[in-house]
Amino acid sequence: MPIEAMRTPLLAGNWKMHCNAAEARALASAIAEGTAGLAGREVLVAPAFTALVATAEALAGTTVRLGAQDCYWEDHGAFTGEISPSMLVDAGCTYVIIGHSERRQHFGETDYTVAKKVAAAHEYGLKPIVCVGESLEQRESGKALEVVEKQVRHGLVELPEDGMATLVVAYEPVWAIGTGKVATTEQAQEVHAHIRAVLQSFMPQGMSDRARILYGGSVKPDNVDELMACPDIDGALVGGASLKAESFVRIARFEEN
Ligand code: PGA
Repeated sequence: MPIEAMRTPLLAGNWKMHCNAAEARALASAIAEGTAGLAGREVLVAPAFTALVATAEALAGTTVRLGAQDCYWEDHGAFTGEISPSMLVDAGCTYVIIGHSERRQHFGETDYTVAKKVAAAHEYGLKPIVCVGESLEQRESGKALEVVEKQVRHGLVELPEDGMATLVVAYEPVWAIGTGKVATTEQAQEVHAHIRAVLQSFMPQGMSDRARILYGGSVKPDNVDELMACPDIDGALVGGASLKAESFVRIARFEEN
């Protein structure tokens, strides 16, 4: 069996700050309908906090998973405005996106906070999707691999060994997010292979072959097949194209060629 066959592809929709509860319910239902019976892959949607419960209700009895877009690392307490991992579990989440570049850019997220959130998410039974990726300037100065390696090493420093088996990393070059500029398959595969090598350097034997590495940044129906054909690309984290059921369903129905 090829190594990549051990990894179930994950197609995740990051709805960002879109969709009220009624819109989320309708979108989730349409995605569930369009992906029903689809074997050999996992499909996930991550709505805003306020739409989590409505989305969970719409997804009940389907195979589509629910995730959140962020969490805090404490379980409860005087942390106005924050949401804990256990609250996300309570709302029906099984995954949580951590360290998205928009949170790093606009909300002061750092590798330090990412590391704390990743460990807390795991402790409460959520699977973290840890986002990494270089800026355009960093890519142009030849630092992409170095930047991504540092984010991976520092972001995972508090994750215990038993959390590594279910780890998902999302490589999202900042210059490709929401810009329509997708990384070439060569650029993406190069970084994904490097991330896997970095994981291999500190994970127990064989485990880095099981960790899934998603690509994100302008994934669309017309580029997903090519991206998914790369040996180290195990899924996609999709923003804009996940807000329309038709395009996200097509992405989830990718064909490896
Ligand atoms: P995009 O966003 O697909 O709209 O580029 C991806 C992301 O930010 O996760």
